[in-house]
Amino acid sequence: MFDFITEEHEMIRQTARDFATTAIAPIAAEYDESGEFPLETVRQMGSLGFMGIEIPEQYGGVGMDTIAYVLALEEISRADASHGTIMSVNNSLVCHALLKYGTEEQKQKYLVPVASGAKIGAYSLTEPMSGSDAGTMRSRAVLSDDGAHYVINGRKSWVTSAPVADIILLFTMTDPQKQHRGISAFIIETDRPGFARGKKEPKLGIRASATSEITFDDFRCPVENRLGEEGEGFKVAMAVLDAGRIGIASQALGIAEAALEASVSYAKEREAFGQKIGEFQMIQQKLADMKTRIDASRLLIYRAALAKMQAASTGERYTMEASIAKLFASETAMWVATQAVQIHGGMGYSKELPVERYFRDAKITEIYEGTSEIQRMVIARHLTGLR
Ligand code: CAA
Repeated sequence: MFDFITEEHEMIRQTARDFATTAIAPIAAEYDESGEFPLETVRQMGSLGFMGIEIPEQYGGVGMDTIAYVLALEEISRADASHGTIMSVNNSLVCHALLKYGTEEQKQKYLVPVASGAKIGAYSLTEPMSGSDAGTMRSRAVLSDDGAHYVINGRKSWVTSAPVADIILLFTMTDPQKQHRGISAFIIETDRPGFARGKKEPKLGIRASATSEITFDDFRCPVENRLGEEGEGFKVAMAVLDAGRIGIASQALGIAEAALEASVSYAKEREAFGQKIGEFQMIQQKLADMKTRIDASRLLIYRAALAKMQAASTGERYTMEASIAKLFASETAMWVATQAVQIHGGMGYSKELPVERYFRDAKITEIYEGTSEIQRMVIARHLTGLR
């Protein structure tokens, strides 16, 4: 139906579906319960090329495009949204940033291991007192007198994969007077002194994806680890989030698909008042609306993915397409998962079925990488040109 989806795309979708079904789905509930990081399956995703899908082979990836990425991410997230988060952050926030803004040396040293899955990457923008207002951060990087390194101090929070990350893309203030234009980006090697990880966040959903605070205490970051120019960090962070938001939209789509699939099966099996519950119009309406919103999400994701691919040659931004896809797909995931719990009744509330996990996992997609309120703000600003 979509002529931009090639045989190669279908192959990666199938590979992702097979892997998700055989290796991830069987362990998803257990890892959700324990909150343990699924290192083995994440390493396997690396071997399959899923940790650097859009990265050229010379830099450790598999050299495919954004359509391949969204198809694979949807399949992985359909089995388990935690794996989806880990994959999305590694691909769109870390690899994409290193590819777009890194020097050749940085690409060889950091992109190759992260894109191949040998090392795990994280992205750190948020702070305890700076979330949606990302330009107001308090952490600092000060250039040493000899100009050889930056001394970094401060605390960052809600860093996905921080408890296991080998490399973290850090955004911090180098010139507070300049506000957002005083933010710079750095590649942090987490085995250096002065870096510490806080306790793992106990979370409502995506519990197998590890999240924590990180702290910098006179951390010495070599000047060659600055990503982009000094003061360019906020733009790097925002541009990379455009890509990230397409990833989160795909993750949301995967969750919604899983919730719908479970609901259709249940509606065909479960009987009440002497008939299948799927024969009741109220259930039919829910299923029809779930499917319609899911299909609309998919189209918006494809549009955003195509806009991103086009941007590679035109240099144009695809901010609005990414925000619309993320907004719609994440709200769809939450709504669909809510309907799925309702259709399942008591069983939807039980940990015996994965439906309650879909419900818990869906919520984060409306929050991270820009809340729904922030996406609406971005879209409205594009429409009006007002701030
Ligand atoms: N691409 C490139 N540049 C961009 C951009 C984009 N998408 N968006 C903004 N910019 C540029 C602007 O052009 C502007 O440039 P100038 O300095 O030349 O004027 C500059 O950045 C500042 O832009 P704004 O004035 O619009 O900035 P703002 O302070 O009003 O903030 C915002 C805009 C959209 C609210 C932004 O702060 C934002 O997106 N906030 C949400 C933050 C967020 O998503 N956090 C998620 C954390 S990461 C996470 O969740 C990852 C994880 O672990 C899963």
